[in-house]
Amino acid sequence: MCKVNATTAKLDVNNPSDKAPVVSQRYVYIAAIFAAVGGLLFGYDTGVISGALIFIKQSFGLSIFQQELAVSSVLVGAAVLAITGGSLSDRFGRRKMLLITSVVFIAGALVCAAAGSIQILILGRVIVGMGIGLASSVVPLYISEISPAKARGWQVSLFQLAITVGILAAYLADYAFTPSAAWRWMLGLAVVPGALLGAGMLYLPETPRFLARHGHFDLARTVLIKIRSTQNVEKEFQEIKAASQESALRGHISDLLLPAVRPALMIGIGLAVFQQVTGINTIIYYAPYIIRTAGINSIQGSILATAGIGTVNVVMTLVSMWLIDRVGRRPLLLTGITGMIISLGALGYIFHLSEGGNFAGLSVVILMFYVASFAISLGPIFWLLIAEIYPLKIRGLAAGIAAGTNWLANFAVSLTFLSLLKGLGPSLTFWLYGVLAIGSWLFSYYLVPETKGRSLEEIEALWHKKPEATQINSASV
Ligand code: BGC
Repeated sequence: MCKVNATTAKLDVNNPSDKAPVVSQRYVYIAAIFAAVGGLLFGYDTGVISGALIFIKQSFGLSIFQQELAVSSVLVGAAVLAITGGSLSDRFGRRKMLLITSVVFIAGALVCAAAGSIQILILGRVIVGMGIGLASSVVPLYISEISPAKARGWQVSLFQLAITVGILAAYLADYAFTPSAAWRWMLGLAVVPGALLGAGMLYLPETPRFLARHGHFDLARTVLIKIRSTQNVEKEFQEIKAASQESALRGHISDLLLPAVRPALMIGIGLAVFQQVTGINTIIYYAPYIIRTAGINSIQGSILATAGIGTVNVVMTLVSMWLIDRVGRRPLLLTGITGMIISLGALGYIFHLSEGGNFAGLSVVILMFYVASFAISLGPIFWLLIAEIYPLKIRGLAAGIAAGTNWLANFAVSLTFLSLLKGLGPSLTFWLYGVLAIGSWLFSYYLVPETKGRSLEEIEALWHKKPEATQINSASV
């Protein structure tokens, strides 16, 4: 046992919460909610820059390239730390990495808020990005490993819900601070949820799966009893113990290519790319711009429409959370992507027609339909699947690779969107995303397994028995 794991165990033993009597069924919900605060920071920090940029530009007299750097440096930091953060959490523990994530977020927000030059600001944005990357690979894992199988879908989706709330909060903060041009407040406000994440993780335990994997079986059982709020955890504990003993050796990068892992790795990477190349962040980051292109010229009108889109995103994520453990992942995924294909086709068509006319109202409705379709499908389900389909031994590493790929794809799409609009025009651009959405539907239909109601250990066993993902698809879709 390495020193670090022993430290993790010690931390948890010393955690007063581990000795407390079992009093409430709600413990695991609280744990999931606190961890999901990482998603709030993800949404807030990626969303807030659009409104702040104009004032930062005035403060420092930025060139276009410097503005692009201020926006995209977050994505670069996120991509790098998502990849490494996952495997660090396999070694040091999910909880410890989330504590570090909180410190990184707070440091990044403070550096941004106090930046006296563009160089320092960009440094701050890279640090914030590192926090986002860590959160995106570790939060879904943490929640997935503490949740009971039947509620895992909605509990991991709390992460996506928090992202959407963070995006909406960023729109509102931009709106609130615009009259005073207070960009330092816009960026610095992230300290609050950053501190909340840290406070929560100080109180919360390490996951029973991580503890068992590192040989701390007694502690794993204690935590399980605590988070399940019952002494009756033997069956689940024995399953976790058996799976952890099978993966007692440390996972290696070469394990990613094992026949029982490769299909799952492909699914994570594929969905990561499809989640981004179907255009969600062109809408999230550039909504006001698209709305103006569609013909709404008043600033208030475009802010209102943008806030409307953010609200639809939150509400439909809630709908998805309500459905995800009832109807399953695949039906939601396929239905939502179908909605995305239809709306991207329609959006392209509207822009195609509107060269002479004006369909501004209709295009806002279609944008909302698109965001609603994403919010019930690719949004939450990507983050959920990457936290549940990998074997324990390399869960962090593989989830980190998928999360990092997502950030790289996000970076590529954000960087090319304006050039595509200019080169191809809006209609062809949205049709291109529509074609990629058809690709993502086919990919999901043929490859993505149904994981509803299965424990993480059952999912792991299925890959061993039947390497082809399609063989563990539910019969329902
Ligand atoms: C995506 C983000 C996106 C957000 C929108 C997340 O699942 O990973 O890139 O901005 O959803 O709600």
